[in-house]
Amino acid sequence: MAVSVDRILRWKQTGRPAQPIAVLTAWDVMSAQIVDGAGADIVLVGDSLAMVALGYDTTLPLTMEDMLIAARAVRRGVKNALVVVDLPFLSYQSSVEEAVRAAGQMLKAGAQAVKLEGGHPAAVATVERLVQWGIPVMGHVGLTPQSVNQLGGFRQQGKTEAEGDRILTEAKALEQAGAFSTVLEHIPAALARDITKALSIPTIGIGAGAHCDGQVLVTADVLGLSAWQPPFAKVYANLRQQAIAAAAEFCTEVRSGNFPA
Ligand code: KIV
Repeated sequence: MAVSVDRILRWKQTGRPAQPIAVLTAWDVMSAQIVDGAGADIVLVGDSLAMVALGYDTTLPLTMEDMLIAARAVRRGVKNALVVVDLPFLSYQSSVEEAVRAAGQMLKAGAQAVKLEGGHPAAVATVERLVQWGIPVMGHVGLTPQSVNQLGGFRQQGKTEAEGDRILTEAKALEQAGAFSTVLEHIPAALARDITKALSIPTIGIGAGAHCDGQVLVTADVLGLSAWQPPFAKVYANLRQQAIAAAAEFCTEVRSGNFPA
């Protein structure tokens, strides 16, 4: 049975999930077919694609057009998983109306839910309005990469008690606003555990320890395709090296006349 928002919610609300929720990112039809075929519960078209697929240093340059192309491609590659698409920087911050328009376009492109960053009052008001209009929202607190300039880098958040309390308050406010789950990125494991206990919606951790209701990683990191991985990523294969070796063998065979045979 295909994964729905309702199923993700019920996962936690009918008791702690028997198995944590597995989430992987995708940015095109091939990566979508791979992670959906592998059995991911949620395929996230994360704005990290700006860095892993488009070569930017941050997620900030990504446009709605970039994201819509990726969302449509991923939709075509997914059969079972829930497809969640990130709202790119500046597509939802300037007004709630713009946010509704941007999120609506993502749903028209095939997303079943959108994700946006932040748990401050403006973000919470936006989540509330999107949910009122029938657009499911996944929250994202802790390290919010779209705020990298304010955070002073891709650093762990929530290290002090005051910061931890703020992140917990933000996560609770997102739940109150109707978010169906929230990402907890790069925060101490004990804080993620406390937030997970305090919420009735599932938490999806990345660099947030083992106590979340689910885990997400960027697929390019998992597959060893990216040139660099964050310290909390686990690399399960070394496809970058294998791909370079295969491409180099092709070049050698063409030059030596061994291909075509
Ligand atoms: O953009 C992304 O890939 C994300 C995940 C890492 C949570 O937001």
